[in-house]
Amino acid sequence: MFDLTGFTTLKLPFKAKSVIRLTSIENVCVSMQQLGSIPRLVVGGGSNIVVLDPEFEGIVLRPEIQYYEITESGNDVYLEVGAGHSWHQLVMKTLDSGWFGLENLALIPGWMGAAPIQNIGAYGVELKDHCHRVKLYDFEEQAIIELPASQLNFGYRHSLFKELPGRFLVLTVTLKLSKYASPRVSYGTISEELERQGLDAEKPLDIAKAVISIRQSKLPDPDITPNVGSFFKNPVVRSEVADRLQDEFPEMPTYVNGEYTKIAAGWLIDRLGLKGQQIGGFAVNERQALVITNDGTGTADDLRDLVALILSSVEATYGLSLAIEPTQLGRLN
Ligand code: EPU
Repeated sequence: MFDLTGFTTLKLPFKAKSVIRLTSIENVCVSMQQLGSIPRLVVGGGSNIVVLDPEFEGIVLRPEIQYYEITESGNDVYLEVGAGHSWHQLVMKTLDSGWFGLENLALIPGWMGAAPIQNIGAYGVELKDHCHRVKLYDFEEQAIIELPASQLNFGYRHSLFKELPGRFLVLTVTLKLSKYASPRVSYGTISEELERQGLDAEKPLDIAKAVISIRQSKLPDPDITPNVGSFFKNPVVRSEVADRLQDEFPEMPTYVNGEYTKIAAGWLIDRLGLKGQQIGGFAVNERQALVITNDGTGTADDLRDLVALILSSVEATYGLSLAIEPTQLGRLN
């Protein structure tokens, strides 16, 4: 067995029978057809996966494809990017090139291939806003296919890939960017941060700098403190349900979108006094209650117990059931 603990940012023990590194699109079909019915798991940057079974009796596929192709069309730029690119490095590279759109998504950990799976999002922008199409290996058809973004059923931390887990392997993503900046600075504290640092709200690179500062001040760096970012999704409920809760908890942050309202799960957990709550090696982060950290000694059982405590406390006080955000290998609850 290969020890792959270092492949994931949560650093729970992880061994697998074998690893296949996929470095080019050309050899994907042959490599995948040889797999047959052996269980498989795709792991890219490993920053959004929780491994609860320490031994995986299958093959880990690591899409390290570094493909990069630029097509310009008027003021639009289409970038086809291999699944193995670091997301943050890509964001900074596009800004240096004068191609705009990804600035609010700076410093999100992980690789390109994982971005469409959960439709990564931050500070009012989601991948779906700039995803044009994807190139995939379809395990069912045993062929490479392309799908336009319109067929990917993107939603809040949701996509077709969540509906059909295991069916596809992302090979490349084509992003649509622009040579014109369209700054989006109304979300959260971006404007305050720009002002505080004397940065220019019209400049995408400055927006990225502000986002980087905010993230660094709120979120633990997964390279230093093992974590997978937000552990829970913000619950989306019917607006009348949110209104009733807000009568009881007037401070509760909400994002109303017509019939539905998103509630800040971090606030719900924080208000219960759970920040800093520790079970074994796992703890609720002191700065952002949506994040669970591992001090390096945490076990899967510690994590299960801490998650169970958070879920039952939130349910008991607010009547809401939180959904786990990262992908899981094995069962958490
Ligand atoms: N809040 C608290 N206490 C906390 C955490 C948050 O009171 O411990 C409050 C904040 O003060 C704010 C509200 O809750 O009023 C929302 O907090 P924040 O702006 O930090 O965003 P979030 O809803 O907690 C989401 C994403 C993050 C993303 C930020 C910024 C999800 C599950 N998480 O967090 O994404 O960076 O918005 O856009 O949607 C990730 O997915 O890993 C991730 C970090």
